[in-house]
Amino acid sequence: MSVIVRPYTNDDYEALLAVQREAFPPPFPESLWWKKEQIAAHVETYPTGAMVAVCDGIVAGSSTSLIVTFAGKPHTWEEVSDNGYIRHSHEPDGDSLYGIDLCVRPSHRSKGIAGALYEARKELVVRSGLKRFLAGCRIPGYHLHADRMDADEYVRRVVSGEFKDLVLSFMLRQGLTPIQVLDNYLKDEESLDKAVLVEWKNPAFADQPEGDEAV
Ligand SMILES: CC(C)(COP(=O)(O)OP(=O)(O)OC[C@H]1O[C@@H](n2cnc3c(N)ncnc32)[C@H](O)[C@@H]1OP(=O)(O)O)[C@@H](O)C(=O)NCCC(=O)NCCS
Repeated sequence: MSVIVRPYTNDDYEALLAVQREAFPPPFPESLWWKKEQIAAHVETYPTGAMVAVCDGIVAGSSTSLIVTFAGKPHTWEEVSDNGYIRHSHEPDGDSLYGIDLCVRPSHRSKGIAGALYEARKELVVRSGLKRFLAGCRIPGYHLHADRMDADEYVRRVVSGEFKDLVLSFMLRQGLTPIQVLDNYLKDEESLDKAVLVEWKNPAFADQPEGDEAV
C-alpha cells in the first residue's frame, strides 16, 4: 500500500465530501461536512495546510490546518476556524499550526493514514518555524462514561491507558499532549460537545519558556 500526502485542490471536493460522509456519520451533524465554498476558501487562504492522503490512487483521508497566535484562551471550533472558512482566523504571522479537521475513511483505518497526515503536519510546523501544533481533539468515547465522571477525569483515564478513545488515543500516540478541556467546542453528540485541546511542540522550541502565554 502506498500513501501519498499532497495539497488538496478544488478538484478534490467530491472525494473530500465522500470521506467526510463516511468518517462523520450520524449523529454527527451533516451541516458540518465541508461545503464547496469552505474548501475553496482553504485553497485560497492557506493551501499548504490543506492536505489529502491518497492511498493506492484513492482519496482515503484529509486534514485542514491554519496558523494562529496562541494565547491559551478557551475557544470554540467556529471561532478558531472562522466557521470553517479560515479567511478571518488564519494569521500568516502567528506562532502555531492549528488543525481544524482530520478524517480517514473507515475502510482505510488502522493503516497509518492519519499518522502520515500527522507527520506532514509536524513537518510543516518545523519547516515554517512555528512553535507548536494544536488541535481541538474530539472525545467520542466520553458519552459512554459521562454519567460517572467529568471530561477532565475521562481524559486522565485515557491518558493513563485505562480507557481507549477512537480519537484521543490516536492523538496521544502521535505525541500530542492534552492542555485543557474545551466546553461547547463543536456540536458533537458523542463528545457531549466537548473537546480537549492537544499540543505537539516543535523540538526546536522545546527548551524555551512559554513567556506570557497562559498555556
Ligand atoms: C482518528 C482517525 C483520524 C484515525 O485514523 P487512522 O488512519 O485509522 O489512524 P492510524 O492508522 O494512523 O492510527 C490508528 C491506529 O492504527 C495503528 N496503526 C498505524 N499504522 C498501522 C499499520 N500499518 N498496521 C496496523 N496498525 C497500524 C496505530 O498504532 C493506531 O493505533 P491507536 O489507535 O492505538 O493509536 C480516524 O479514526 C477517524 O477518521 N475518525 C473519525 C473522524 C474524527 O473524529 N476525526 C478527529 C477529529 S478531532
